[in-house]
Amino acid sequence: MKKTVLITGSSSGFGAHLAEAFAARGYDVVLHGRNKKRLQAVKNKISKKGVRCVSVIADLQTKKGLNTVQSTLHKYNVDILVNNAGVNPELKKGALGNAKNIGEIISVNTSSAIALSREAFSYFAKRGGGIVININSSAGLRGSAHEAVYAASKFGLRGFSESVKEIWLKQGVRMIDIYSGALATGMSSGRRDKNELIDPRELAEFIASVCSTNSFFIREISIQRTKKSNGRKVEKQIKTEYHKGI
Ligand SMILES: NC(=O)c1ccc[n+]([C@@H]2O[C@H](COP(=O)([O-])OP(=O)(O)OC[C@H]3O[C@@H](n4cnc5c(N)ncnc54)[C@H](OP(=O)(O)O)[C@@H]3O)[C@@H](O)[C@H]2O)c1
Repeated sequence: MKKTVLITGSSSGFGAHLAEAFAARGYDVVLHGRNKKRLQAVKNKISKKGVRCVSVIADLQTKKGLNTVQSTLHKYNVDILVNNAGVNPELKKGALGNAKNIGEIISVNTSSAIALSREAFSYFAKRGGGIVININSSAGLRGSAHEAVYAASKFGLRGFSESVKEIWLKQGVRMIDIYSGALATGMSSGRRDKNELIDPRELAEFIASVCSTNSFFIREISIQRTKKSNGRKVEKQIKTEYHKGI
């Protein structure tokens, strides 16, 4: 039977790659984001793959936006929720460089992902099963001086997931956590070593492929890039760039 995936933050970046990868496997796709133009561009691409594709515009920082995405789970009979939407303004501004961003980072990366997961859980449990995928980060496993609030937001999501994973599984709901190193997408677009980062298309295809197992499921995956950055010189450059403005 045809399945439907809802991917938050799929108007660009890694979410758009995930949308393509799921569509290539025959999933119907619900796109989500704030930017209408970018959503339409992704929708045009996905629709060519012969699957149903709809898009939802909603700001996850607002209660109204969150409610809209929550009701979308029911409206389109979603089978898989991917919590992908995320922000990391510290990469541009430097850790703690702009205190007003703390609310935005926690709200988008942690609170909205938890709220959506809870809604998905109660919906999936009633239907006999479903999958929640959290696009976390290696910053959710280890603290990171140049993006301290971002790391805190991803640690928070990990804490939630680790707390509910076993209980939810008993109700047929699988929670898959992806702890990825730097990806060559929007959030890392300012990096000089962009060509050496994880290929988002390759990772998106891999993630779409792990959703169809039967006798087991992948609880979490830690993804590390294979391409070495060009020695200490590049690492030093990156550190210097990220610490500007602290
Ligand atoms: N890039 C990396 O190096 C990296 C590494 C590990 C993990 N990750 C994780 O991967 C995910 C995607 O990152 P990315 O690099 O693809 O980022 P990106 O290119 O900046 O895309 C972020 C997406 O999130 C959406 N979004 C942001 N704020 C939102 C809000 N308030 N309401 C609704 N949607 C919102 C954006 O939609 P609009 O533009 O339409 O608002 C966009 O579609 C994030 O969770 C990130 O933490 C990234």
